[in-house]
Amino acid sequence: MKIISTPLELKNILRENTKTIGFVPTMGALHEGHISLIKKAREENDLVIVSIFVNPTQFLKGEDLDKYPKKDEADKVICELCGVDILFFPKADDIYGRDEVSIVAPNVRGFVLEGASRPSHFNGVLTVVMKLLNMVSPTKAYFGKKDAQQLNLISLMVKQFFMNVEVVAVDTVREKDGLALSSRNVYLSQEQRKEALKISASLKEASDMISKGILDTKQIKSKMMDILSPLEIFYVEILNRDFEYIYNVEIGNSIILVEVKVGSTRLLDNIWL
Ligand code: PAF
Repeated sequence: MKIISTPLELKNILRENTKTIGFVPTMGALHEGHISLIKKAREENDLVIVSIFVNPTQFLKGEDLDKYPKKDEADKVICELCGVDILFFPKADDIYGRDEVSIVAPNVRGFVLEGASRPSHFNGVLTVVMKLLNMVSPTKAYFGKKDAQQLNLISLMVKQFFMNVEVVAVDTVREKDGLALSSRNVYLSQEQRKEALKISASLKEASDMISKGILDTKQIKSKMMDILSPLEIFYVEILNRDFEYIYNVEIGNSIILVEVKVGSTRLLDNIWL
């Protein structure tokens, strides 16, 4: 595995490349969720490139940029073991310059749900993903379904900017007890971790209601909120896969999304129906 830290080195290595490239952009602190993205990329491509870059522009003032978990050495070992060919580890100065041109998330889709409480977050995500995709020029890029709004906006950007890459959505990986894997889970105390299980419990209840034929989104959301109480709820929402509000669950075209605060940690999760 080659470890590369500048865009120029990456460009030189890829200059003559004719092989298919699977790309997994990450912010490091890799866990089984990332590993499942890397494994899929490994199965489907000749070359696998992983980037680790804690992107400052997607953090708002007062968020956890400075204490975002860092596990560089462990991450290198994981990438090596997963058969990654190139690990790209750029610094902020390599990615951002002065007088930045940035991508702006669309008005509605970018500023509801997570975007409502984190305005400008998705501008930062889209900007860095655009930069990374342009640097790597992958055949396919892999993103987790857990960050459903991010995935939706990246897919939209790729389509609207006629970018030559296939976005692949990969299923969420969970602990045995249902907690969705996230680099931020390390912030949780034992007690908070127990509280966090309310998230997957609320999603399971929603899925059970739907299998009993209850499709009314208001009724489902109200039951989910009861289960999540007394956690601080940012949103409980049921949308179609174009991120439009719906009154009734459309089987095969719906996503149920939750974001809550446990202690001072934001946790999100969703199920696709
Ligand atoms: O999902 C993440 O880890 C980040 O938002 C991403 C896509 C790597 C952009 O910084």
